[in-house]
Amino acid sequence: MASIDFHKLRVAEVKRETPDAVSVRFELPEKLRDTFKFKAGQHLTFRREVNGEELRRNYSVCVSPAEGVLKIGVKKIAGGAFSGWVNDELSAGDEIEVMAPHGSFCWEFDPGARREYVAFAGGSGITPILSLMKTALTQEPKSRFTLFYGNRTSLSVMFLEEVAAWKDKYLDRLQIVHFLEDEEEEIALFNGRLDRPKIEDILDHLVDVTAVDVFFICGPGPMMDAIEETLSARGVRKPQILVERFTTGPLSEAQTAAARALEAKAAGRKMNVTLNGRRMNVTFDPERHSILDNVRAAGLPAPFACKGGVCATCRAKVTSGEVSMKVNYGLSEKELAEGYVLTCQATPLTDDVALTYDT
Ligand code: FES
Repeated sequence: MASIDFHKLRVAEVKRETPDAVSVRFELPEKLRDTFKFKAGQHLTFRREVNGEELRRNYSVCVSPAEGVLKIGVKKIAGGAFSGWVNDELSAGDEIEVMAPHGSFCWEFDPGARREYVAFAGGSGITPILSLMKTALTQEPKSRFTLFYGNRTSLSVMFLEEVAAWKDKYLDRLQIVHFLEDEEEEIALFNGRLDRPKIEDILDHLVDVTAVDVFFICGPGPMMDAIEETLSARGVRKPQILVERFTTGPLSEAQTAAARALEAKAAGRKMNVTLNGRRMNVTFDPERHSILDNVRAAGLPAPFACKGGVCATCRAKVTSGEVSMKVNYGLSEKELAEGYVLTCQATPLTDDVALTYDT
C-alpha cells in the first residue's frame, strides 16, 4: 500500500501538450525523493478542497523512473473540477497535496530479457503507457515495443512530439501506429476508433499475437473491453494482458439492488481494522455502503481516491472472515489470492472480519 500521508509538492512546470491537456512536473526535495520513487505505470493521488468538498484524483506518471523527474499528464474533462483546475489555473510555484506513488499497472523489466511488448493507448491513456514504453526501451536493450495510439484528431494527440522523438531514437525497436477517429488517412486501417472490428484488423495484419509477451492497455472503457475480449478470444492468457482503468461506469439497477441487499444483511457486523499500527473495532452501517466509508467514519483515515474500484488506493488485506466486492478493476488475480480487497467496494459477509491497511 502507498503511504497514506499526503505531501505538499511544488509545481516546477506546467506544459501545454494539446489544447485540452497539460503535463505537470514537480519539484522533488531531497527529503521526499525516496517517498516518491515509483515504478513505471504507477500513478499519484492528488487532494484538493473545492467549496468545502475534498476532491481526490489519480493521474498516471508519464516518465520512466530512470529520467529522475516526477511528471504527470492531465487531460481536461468536460465539467471536471480537478482536471479543469489543473489545465486552467495551476502554474509553476503552486503547491499541491500528493500521496506517494502506487498502482499495479506495472511490469518487472529485466535487462537480460528479449521481449515483445504491444500497447494500446486511447487519448490520455497514453500517460502510463509512455512510462512503460520508455522503461522497456531503456531497461531492456533487446526488447521491442509496439504502440497503437488512438485519438480523435491529430491536434488532440498528447505527447505527440515526445513519442516521435523516441521513435527516431529507437528506430529498430519501437513501432508507433496512430489511429485518428475524425481525420481521414490514406490507409483505411488507420482511420476510425479502436473498436472491436479495428482491433481484429490490427491483430490480423500488424501483430503476431503468439510472439507477444505482454499487452498493455489504457484508454476509454469500451476500447479496453474490446481489446481484452479480442485478445482472450485469440487465446492470450490473462497474466499477459495488463489493463489500467481510470474510471468505470455506474452499476446496473440489478447490481445496485443486489449490493444494497448484501449491505442490509451486514448491518451491525463488527470488523477489526488495523491502520498505521492502530487497531479499532468498526461496526458496519449499511447507510455508508462500504467498509472504507465505515472505517473513515469511525475516525481511521483509510486512504482512497476513485471510490469506483479502479485505483486500488483503498486496498487492504483480509486476515480473517469473508468480504464481498461489488466490482474489482484494481486488483490482480494474485492480489485476490493473497487476500487483498478494495475496501471502497467491500461489504463484510461474516461476523469475524479483520483487515489491515498496513501491508
Ligand atoms: S478508492 Fe479507488 S479502488 Fe477504492
